[in-house]
Amino acid sequence: MWKLRPYQAGDASELLSLFRDTIQRINCRDYTPEQIEAWASDDIDDIAWADRFTGRFVIVAEQNERPIGFGELEPNGHIDRFYVSADHQGIGIGRGLITTIFEEATRQSLPRLTVEASITARPFFERHGFATLERQIVVCRGVEMVNYRMARELPV
Ligand SMILES: CC(C)(COP(=O)(O)OP(=O)(O)OC[C@H]1O[C@@H](n2cnc3c(N)ncnc32)[C@H](O)[C@@H]1OP(=O)(O)O)[C@@H](O)C(=O)NCCC(=O)NCCS
Repeated sequence: MWKLRPYQAGDASELLSLFRDTIQRINCRDYTPEQIEAWASDDIDDIAWADRFTGRFVIVAEQNERPIGFGELEPNGHIDRFYVSADHQGIGIGRGLITTIFEEATRQSLPRLTVEASITARPFFERHGFATLERQIVVCRGVEMVNYRMARELPV
């Protein structure tokens, strides 16, 4: 069984490992090895990675006291990092995370959620009511990659 809980100080380094592993094993279906290397780079600074969680709503899925997924909502309604462990894909964890983010966004009276979805994650966000606004090329540590700017209006 897995459960959802708020982010805790001390999660950051395990979430960074999860992030890298998911990109290397799941997003590799849709991106080139060069893009994967840039995205999951060894050069990501641990402190900057941890600091980025500050002031954001972060929900963590855990099983046996180990994180198996996480989703992050910025105060402006932008969903930033959103990753499920490569070993726990397709069993509803993403649904649990996004549902919790919807609840939090409603609690904060946010009018709209946005995300820059990977090629891999785009069908998931479409299934959860996000519309694609634009296909865009972003530069990650000097390497160009495609993602999709998506948005979902929330009831006021
Ligand atoms: C996108 C992502 C977060 C979704 O998480 P998840 O836990 O696998 O998602 P869920 O299991 O809740 O839902 C997946 C949906 O796809 C379906 N699905 C499950 N396994 C599937 C598979 N192998 N292929 C296609 N669809 C599948 C499920 O039935 C579910 O559909 P439903 O909600 O209509 O029932 C996850 O795939 C991921 O971590 N991707 C890589 C990281 C990434 O790109 N993150 C986004 C950065 S913006």
